[in-house]
Amino acid sequence: MGGGTTAPAGVAAAEEEGVAKAVTTATPHADIPNIMSSLPTGPGFPPYQLSYYGGFWLSGLFLKGIAASHARFKPRPTDVLLTSFPKSGTTWLKALAFSALNRAAHPPSSAGHHPLYRSSPHDLVSFLEVSPELIATDYAGEDELYGELPSPRLLASHLPYSLLPNGIKIVYVCRDPKDTLVSLWHFHEKTTAVLLGVPGVAGASPPTMPTFEEAFELFCEGRCISGPHWRHALEFWEASRRRPDQVLFLRYEDMLLDPAGNLRTLAAFMGCPFSPEEEAAGVVHHVVELCSLAKLKGLEVNRSGSTLLGLKNEVFFRKGTVGDWSSCMTPAMAARLDGVVKEALKGSTLTFGPAPVIN
Ligand code: A3P
Repeated sequence: MGGGTTAPAGVAAAEEEGVAKAVTTATPHADIPNIMSSLPTGPGFPPYQLSYYGGFWLSGLFLKGIAASHARFKPRPTDVLLTSFPKSGTTWLKALAFSALNRAAHPPSSAGHHPLYRSSPHDLVSFLEVSPELIATDYAGEDELYGELPSPRLLASHLPYSLLPNGIKIVYVCRDPKDTLVSLWHFHEKTTAVLLGVPGVAGASPPTMPTFEEAFELFCEGRCISGPHWRHALEFWEASRRRPDQVLFLRYEDMLLDPAGNLRTLAAFMGCPFSPEEEAAGVVHHVVELCSLAKLKGLEVNRSGSTLLGLKNEVFFRKGTVGDWSSCMTPAMAARLDGVVKEALKGSTLTFGPAPVIN
Protein backbone atom coordinates (compact mmCIF):
# COMPACT_ATOMS: atom_id res chain seq x y z
CA MET A 1 0.00 0.00 0.00
CA GLY A 2 1.20 3.56 -0.23
CA GLY A 3 3.22 4.45 -3.29
CA GLY A 4 0.70 3.72 -6.07
CA THR A 5 0.80 5.85 -9.18
CA THR A 6 -2.65 6.07 -10.64
CA ALA A 7 -5.94 7.57 -9.64
CA PRO A 8 -8.59 5.04 -8.66
CA ALA A 9 -10.05 3.40 -11.73
CA GLY A 10 -13.04 4.96 -13.33
CA VAL A 11 -12.63 8.51 -12.02
CA ALA A 12 -11.95 10.08 -15.41
CA ALA A 13 -14.67 8.10 -17.14
CA ALA A 14 -17.25 8.91 -14.48
CA GLU A 15 -16.26 12.55 -14.61
CA GLU A 16 -16.60 12.69 -18.38
CA GLU A 17 -20.10 11.31 -18.11
CA GLY A 18 -20.92 13.91 -15.47
CA VAL A 19 -21.81 11.32 -12.84
CA ALA A 20 -20.54 11.15 -9.30
CA LYS A 21 -17.14 9.58 -8.67
CA ALA A 22 -16.81 6.17 -7.01
CA VAL A 23 -20.56 5.65 -6.90
CA THR A 24 -21.48 2.85 -4.52
CA THR A 25 -24.83 4.04 -3.15
CA ALA A 26 -27.51 6.58 -4.07
CA THR A 27 -25.48 9.23 -2.26
CA PRO A 28 -21.79 8.53 -2.85
CA HIS A 29 -19.89 7.57 0.30
CA ALA A 30 -23.07 7.56 2.42
CA ASP A 31 -22.01 4.26 3.97
CA ILE A 32 -18.79 5.68 5.46
CA PRO A 33 -20.16 6.10 9.03
CA ASN A 34 -21.22 2.43 9.01
CA ILE A 35 -17.98 1.00 7.67
CA MET A 36 -15.48 3.31 9.41
CA SER A 37 -14.68 0.87 12.19
CA SER A 38 -13.87 -1.90 9.70
CA LEU A 39 -11.50 0.13 7.47
CA PRO A 40 -7.80 -0.76 7.50
CA THR A 41 -5.91 1.26 10.10
CA GLY A 42 -2.31 1.27 11.26
CA PRO A 43 0.51 3.50 12.38
CA GLY A 44 0.53 6.81 10.58
CA PHE A 45 1.77 10.36 10.82
CA PRO A 46 0.46 12.39 12.61
CA PRO A 47 -0.04 9.74 15.28
CA TYR A 48 -3.80 9.92 15.56
CA GLN A 49 -6.11 7.37 14.03
CA LEU A 50 -5.86 7.19 10.24
CA SER A 51 -7.90 4.79 8.11
CA TYR A 52 -7.37 3.70 4.51
CA TYR A 53 -10.27 4.62 2.23
CA GLY A 54 -10.46 5.20 -1.52
CA GLY A 55 -6.68 4.85 -1.83
CA PHE A 56 -5.81 7.39 0.88
CA TRP A 57 -5.02 7.53 4.61
CA LEU A 58 -7.63 9.75 6.22
CA SER A 59 -8.61 10.88 9.71
CA GLY A 60 -12.03 10.08 11.15
CA LEU A 61 -13.04 13.72 10.74
CA PHE A 62 -12.10 13.71 7.06
CA LEU A 63 -14.00 10.45 6.51
CA LYS A 64 -17.16 11.81 8.09
CA GLY A 65 -16.57 15.04 6.16
CA ILE A 66 -16.57 13.13 2.87
CA ALA A 67 -19.94 11.58 3.65
CA ALA A 68 -21.38 14.91 4.85
CA SER A 69 -20.10 16.90 1.89
CA HIS A 70 -21.63 14.48 -0.61
CA ALA A 71 -24.94 14.35 1.22
CA ARG A 72 -25.28 17.96 2.35
CA PHE A 73 -23.22 20.26 0.14
CA LYS A 74 -25.04 21.60 -2.92
CA PRO A 75 -22.45 22.98 -5.38
CA ARG A 76 -23.21 26.25 -7.15
CA PRO A 77 -21.63 27.23 -10.49
CA THR A 78 -19.84 30.15 -8.84
CA ASP A 79 -18.24 28.12 -6.00
CA VAL A 80 -14.46 27.95 -5.79
CA LEU A 81 -12.77 25.26 -3.71
CA LEU A 82 -9.15 25.83 -2.61
CA THR A 83 -7.53 22.42 -2.26
CA SER A 84 -4.18 21.14 -1.07
CA PHE A 85 -2.27 18.41 0.70
CA PRO A 86 -1.80 19.74 4.28
CA LYS A 87 1.17 22.13 4.71
CA SER A 88 1.43 23.08 1.06
CA GLY A 89 0.47 26.76 1.30
CA THR A 90 -3.27 26.50 2.06
CA THR A 91 -3.24 29.47 4.44
CA TRP A 92 -1.55 31.69 1.86
CA LEU A 93 -3.90 30.56 -0.92
CA LYS A 94 -6.90 31.29 1.31
CA ALA A 95 -5.63 34.81 2.02
CA LEU A 96 -4.88 35.55 -1.65
CA ALA A 97 -8.15 34.15 -2.99
CA PHE A 98 -10.27 35.85 -0.32
CA SER A 99 -8.55 39.19 -0.90
CA ALA A 100 -8.82 38.97 -4.69
CA LEU A 101 -12.47 37.86 -4.70
CA ASN A 102 -13.60 40.46 -2.17
CA ARG A 103 -11.46 43.40 -3.25
CA ALA A 104 -14.41 45.60 -4.21
CA ALA A 105 -15.93 45.36 -0.72
CA HIS A 106 -12.57 45.19 1.04
CA PRO A 107 -9.83 47.08 -0.82
CA PRO A 108 -6.48 45.49 -0.01
CA SER A 109 -4.97 48.92 0.55
CA SER A 110 -7.45 49.68 3.32
CA ALA A 111 -4.88 48.43 5.81
CA GLY A 112 -6.35 48.11 9.31
CA HIS A 113 -9.91 47.84 7.97
CA HIS A 114 -9.32 44.72 5.91
CA PRO A 115 -10.85 41.48 7.36
CA LEU A 116 -7.38 39.87 7.36
CA TYR A 117 -6.49 42.28 10.17
CA ARG A 118 -9.22 40.80 12.34
CA SER A 119 -9.48 37.17 11.23
CA SER A 120 -7.20 34.28 10.33
CA PRO A 121 -7.42 33.18 6.69
CA HIS A 122 -8.87 29.95 8.12
CA ASP A 123 -11.75 31.87 9.68
CA LEU A 124 -12.42 33.70 6.41
CA VAL A 125 -12.38 30.54 4.27
CA SER A 126 -13.75 27.40 5.96
CA PHE A 127 -12.86 23.81 5.21
CA LEU A 128 -15.65 21.86 3.52
CA GLU A 129 -14.99 18.70 5.55
CA VAL A 130 -14.02 20.09 8.96
CA SER A 131 -15.77 22.91 10.76
CA PRO A 132 -16.62 23.62 14.40
CA GLU A 133 -20.32 23.12 13.55
CA LEU A 134 -19.73 19.72 11.98
CA ILE A 135 -17.64 18.57 14.92
CA ALA A 136 -20.12 19.91 17.49
CA THR A 137 -22.90 17.81 15.93
CA ASP A 138 -20.60 14.83 15.23
CA TYR A 139 -21.50 15.29 11.56
CA ALA A 140 -25.05 14.13 12.32
CA GLY A 141 -27.00 17.19 11.09
CA GLU A 142 -29.04 17.24 7.93
CA ASP A 143 -29.01 20.92 6.98
CA GLU A 144 -27.37 21.98 3.76
CA LEU A 145 -23.66 22.63 4.35
CA TYR A 146 -22.68 26.27 3.87
CA GLY A 147 -26.09 26.95 2.33
CA GLU A 148 -26.20 30.25 4.23
CA LEU A 149 -23.09 31.62 2.52
CA PRO A 150 -23.79 34.12 -0.26
CA SER A 151 -22.40 33.43 -3.74
CA PRO A 152 -19.69 33.38 -4.84
CA ARG A 153 -18.66 30.96 -2.08
CA LEU A 154 -15.02 30.30 -1.31
CA LEU A 155 -14.25 27.10 0.60
CA ALA A 156 -11.23 24.86 1.10
CA SER A 157 -10.44 21.17 1.35
CA HIS A 158 -7.61 18.73 2.04
CA LEU A 159 -9.61 15.84 0.57
CA PRO A 160 -8.33 13.94 -2.47
CA TYR A 161 -9.86 14.90 -5.80
CA SER A 162 -11.57 11.52 -6.26
CA LEU A 163 -13.41 11.86 -2.94
CA LEU A 164 -14.72 15.41 -3.51
CA PRO A 165 -18.24 16.19 -4.68
CA ASN A 166 -18.48 16.89 -8.40
CA GLY A 167 -19.22 20.17 -10.08
CA ILE A 168 -17.00 22.59 -8.14
CA LYS A 169 -14.29 24.79 -9.63
CA ILE A 170 -11.04 23.81 -7.97
CA VAL A 171 -7.70 25.50 -7.28
CA TYR A 172 -4.95 23.15 -6.07
CA VAL A 173 -1.68 24.27 -4.52
CA CYS A 174 1.10 21.70 -4.74
CA ARG A 175 4.41 21.69 -2.81
CA ASP A 176 7.54 19.58 -3.00
CA PRO A 177 6.95 16.53 -0.76
CA LYS A 178 10.22 16.96 1.17
CA ASP A 179 9.39 20.51 2.27
CA THR A 180 5.79 19.45 2.89
CA LEU A 181 6.91 16.68 5.22
CA VAL A 182 9.21 18.98 7.19
CA SER A 183 6.44 21.57 7.49
CA LEU A 184 4.01 18.84 8.58
CA TRP A 185 6.51 17.64 11.15
CA HIS A 186 6.95 21.09 12.74
CA PHE A 187 3.20 21.70 12.64
CA HIS A 188 2.42 18.46 14.45
CA GLU A 189 5.12 19.01 17.02
CA LYS A 190 3.15 22.09 18.04
CA THR A 191 -0.40 20.86 17.53
CA THR A 192 -0.76 17.13 18.14
CA ALA A 193 -1.55 17.57 21.82
CA VAL A 194 -4.37 20.00 20.97
CA LEU A 195 -5.69 17.93 18.08
CA LEU A 196 -5.88 14.80 20.20
CA GLY A 197 -8.34 16.66 22.40
CA VAL A 198 -10.76 17.11 19.50
CA PRO A 199 -13.53 14.47 19.66
CA GLY A 200 -13.10 11.83 16.97
CA VAL A 201 -9.40 12.43 16.34
CA ALA A 202 -7.66 10.11 18.80
CA GLY A 203 -7.64 6.37 18.19
CA ALA A 204 -8.19 3.63 20.72
CA SER A 205 -4.79 3.83 22.38
CA PRO A 206 -3.03 7.07 23.34
CA PRO A 207 -0.50 7.74 20.58
CA THR A 208 2.98 9.10 20.96
CA MET A 209 4.61 11.53 18.57
CA PRO A 210 7.09 9.68 16.33
CA THR A 211 10.66 10.82 15.86
CA PHE A 212 11.36 12.64 12.61
CA GLU A 213 13.00 9.49 11.26
CA GLU A 214 9.87 7.44 12.05
CA ALA A 215 7.64 10.11 10.51
CA PHE A 216 9.85 10.05 7.41
CA GLU A 217 9.39 6.29 7.03
CA LEU A 218 5.63 6.57 7.40
CA PHE A 219 5.52 9.43 4.88
CA CYS A 220 7.54 7.37 2.37
CA GLU A 221 4.97 4.59 2.77
CA GLY A 222 2.19 7.09 2.13
CA ARG A 223 0.92 6.59 5.69
CA CYS A 224 0.25 10.22 6.56
CA ILE A 225 -2.87 12.34 6.63
CA SER A 226 -4.32 12.49 3.09
CA GLY A 227 -1.35 10.43 1.92
CA PRO A 228 0.26 9.28 -0.21
CA HIS A 229 1.23 12.89 -0.94
CA TRP A 230 2.12 12.19 -4.57
CA ARG A 231 -1.13 10.37 -5.29
CA HIS A 232 -3.05 13.35 -3.87
CA ALA A 233 -1.12 15.73 -6.15
CA LEU A 234 -1.34 13.41 -9.16
CA GLU A 235 -5.13 13.25 -9.09
CA PHE A 236 -5.43 17.04 -9.16
CA TRP A 237 -2.65 17.30 -11.76
CA GLU A 238 -4.41 14.90 -14.10
CA ALA A 239 -7.75 16.62 -13.54
CA SER A 240 -6.14 19.98 -14.36
CA ARG A 241 -4.82 18.51 -17.65
CA ARG A 242 -8.23 17.05 -18.54
CA ARG A 243 -10.30 20.07 -17.49
CA PRO A 244 -8.16 23.22 -17.24
CA ASP A 245 -11.31 25.36 -17.07
CA GLN A 246 -12.38 23.50 -13.90
CA VAL A 247 -9.11 22.75 -12.11
CA LEU A 248 -6.21 25.19 -11.71
CA PHE A 249 -2.91 23.64 -10.56
CA LEU A 250 -0.60 26.08 -8.75
CA ARG A 251 2.79 25.40 -7.22
CA TYR A 252 3.97 26.87 -3.91
CA GLU A 253 7.49 27.27 -5.32
CA ASP A 254 6.18 29.22 -8.33
CA MET A 255 4.09 31.41 -6.05
CA LEU A 256 7.19 32.32 -4.06
CA LEU A 257 9.09 33.11 -7.28
CA ASP A 258 6.30 35.17 -8.82
CA PRO A 259 3.49 35.95 -6.39
CA ALA A 260 1.94 38.67 -8.58
CA GLY A 261 1.86 36.48 -11.70
CA ASN A 262 0.27 33.60 -9.80
CA LEU A 263 -2.26 35.94 -8.20
CA ARG A 264 -3.27 37.22 -11.65
CA THR A 265 -3.76 33.61 -12.82
CA LEU A 266 -5.78 32.80 -9.70
CA ALA A 267 -8.03 35.87 -10.06
CA ALA A 268 -8.67 35.21 -13.76
CA PHE A 269 -9.53 31.57 -12.99
CA MET A 270 -11.96 32.64 -10.26
CA GLY A 271 -13.68 34.94 -12.76
CA CYS A 272 -12.44 38.21 -11.32
CA PRO A 273 -9.38 39.21 -13.42
CA PHE A 274 -7.59 42.43 -12.53
CA SER A 275 -8.56 45.26 -14.89
CA PRO A 276 -5.97 47.54 -16.54
CA GLU A 277 -7.12 50.30 -14.15
CA GLU A 278 -6.53 48.05 -11.14
CA GLU A 279 -3.14 47.06 -12.52
CA ALA A 280 -2.24 50.72 -12.94
CA ALA A 281 -3.40 51.46 -9.40
CA GLY A 282 -1.16 48.72 -8.00
CA VAL A 283 -3.99 46.56 -6.64
CA VAL A 284 -2.18 43.31 -7.50
CA HIS A 285 0.81 44.38 -5.47
CA HIS A 286 -1.39 45.54 -2.59
CA VAL A 287 -2.91 42.04 -2.39
CA VAL A 288 0.51 40.36 -2.60
CA GLU A 289 1.84 42.61 0.14
CA LEU A 290 -1.18 42.13 2.40
CA CYS A 291 -0.96 38.33 2.08
CA SER A 292 2.81 38.01 2.41
CA LEU A 293 4.11 35.73 5.14
CA ALA A 294 5.87 38.59 6.90
CA LYS A 295 2.71 40.70 6.92
CA LEU A 296 0.28 38.00 8.06
CA LYS A 297 2.67 36.54 10.61
CA GLY A 298 3.14 39.95 12.21
CA LEU A 299 -0.56 40.78 12.58
CA GLU A 300 -1.84 40.72 16.14
CA VAL A 301 -4.72 38.40 15.21
CA ASN A 302 -2.26 35.80 13.96
CA ARG A 303 0.13 36.20 16.88
CA SER A 304 -2.42 35.79 19.66
CA GLY A 305 -5.68 34.38 18.29
CA SER A 306 -6.84 30.84 17.76
CA THR A 307 -8.88 29.26 15.02
CA LEU A 308 -10.04 25.96 13.62
CA LEU A 309 -10.12 23.12 16.20
CA GLY A 310 -8.66 25.42 18.86
CA LEU A 311 -5.29 25.72 17.14
CA LYS A 312 -3.34 28.92 17.64
CA ASN A 313 -3.27 31.06 14.49
CA GLU A 314 0.50 31.39 14.78
CA VAL A 315 1.10 27.68 14.04
CA PHE A 316 0.17 28.26 10.38
CA PHE A 317 3.04 30.69 9.80
CA ARG A 318 6.64 29.51 10.01
CA LYS A 319 9.49 30.01 7.52
CA GLY A 320 7.77 29.74 4.14
CA THR A 321 10.89 28.84 2.17
CA VAL A 322 11.99 26.34 -0.45
CA GLY A 323 14.50 23.70 0.59
CA ASP A 324 13.94 23.73 4.35
CA TRP A 325 13.87 19.92 4.13
CA SER A 326 17.65 20.06 4.58
CA SER A 327 17.17 21.21 8.19
CA CYS A 328 15.71 17.79 9.09
CA MET A 329 16.69 15.35 6.33
CA THR A 330 20.05 13.98 5.34
CA PRO A 331 20.92 13.98 1.62
CA ALA A 332 20.44 10.21 1.71
CA MET A 333 16.92 10.54 3.11
CA ALA A 334 16.10 13.17 0.49
CA ALA A 335 17.38 10.94 -2.29
CA ARG A 336 15.33 8.05 -0.93
CA LEU A 337 12.09 10.05 -0.84
CA ASP A 338 12.82 11.48 -4.32
CA GLY A 339 13.25 7.88 -5.50
CA VAL A 340 9.96 6.74 -3.95
CA VAL A 341 8.16 9.64 -5.64
CA LYS A 342 9.87 9.07 -8.99
CA GLU A 343 8.90 5.42 -8.97
CA ALA A 344 5.31 6.20 -7.99
CA LEU A 345 4.94 8.87 -10.70
CA LYS A 346 6.48 6.78 -13.47
CA GLY A 347 4.50 7.33 -16.64
CA SER A 348 2.92 10.60 -15.50
CA THR A 349 3.93 14.15 -16.47
CA LEU A 350 3.76 15.47 -12.91
CA THR A 351 6.96 16.87 -11.41
CA PHE A 352 7.41 18.69 -8.10
CA GLY A 353 9.03 22.07 -7.49
CA PRO A 354 8.67 25.00 -9.90
CA ALA A 355 6.87 24.28 -13.18
CA PRO A 356 9.31 23.02 -15.81
CA VAL A 357 10.17 25.68 -18.39
CA ILE A 358 8.81 24.72 -21.82
CA ASN A 359 10.75 26.17 -24.77
P1 A3P B 1 6.76 26.11 6.49
O1 A3P B 1 6.34 25.25 7.63
O2 A3P B 1 7.67 25.44 5.54
O3 A3P B 1 7.27 27.43 6.91
P2 A3P B 1 -0.54 25.33 5.16
O4 A3P B 1 -1.05 26.72 5.06
O5 A3P B 1 -1.00 24.45 4.01
O6 A3P B 1 -0.81 24.75 6.47
O7 A3P B 1 1.02 25.38 4.92
C1 A3P B 1 1.84 26.00 5.88
C2 A3P B 1 3.13 26.40 5.21
O8 A3P B 1 2.90 27.59 4.43
C3 A3P B 1 4.19 26.77 6.25
O9 A3P B 1 5.43 26.43 5.63
C4 A3P B 1 3.99 28.27 6.37
O10 A3P B 1 5.10 28.95 6.89
C5 A3P B 1 3.72 28.64 4.92
N1 A3P B 1 2.96 29.91 4.81
C6 A3P B 1 1.93 30.34 5.59
N2 A3P B 1 1.51 31.55 5.18
C7 A3P B 1 2.29 31.90 4.13
C8 A3P B 1 2.36 33.06 3.30
N3 A3P B 1 1.54 34.09 3.48
N4 A3P B 1 3.28 33.08 2.32
C9 A3P B 1 4.13 32.03 2.13
N5 A3P B 1 4.13 30.91 2.88
C10 A3P B 1 3.21 30.84 3.88
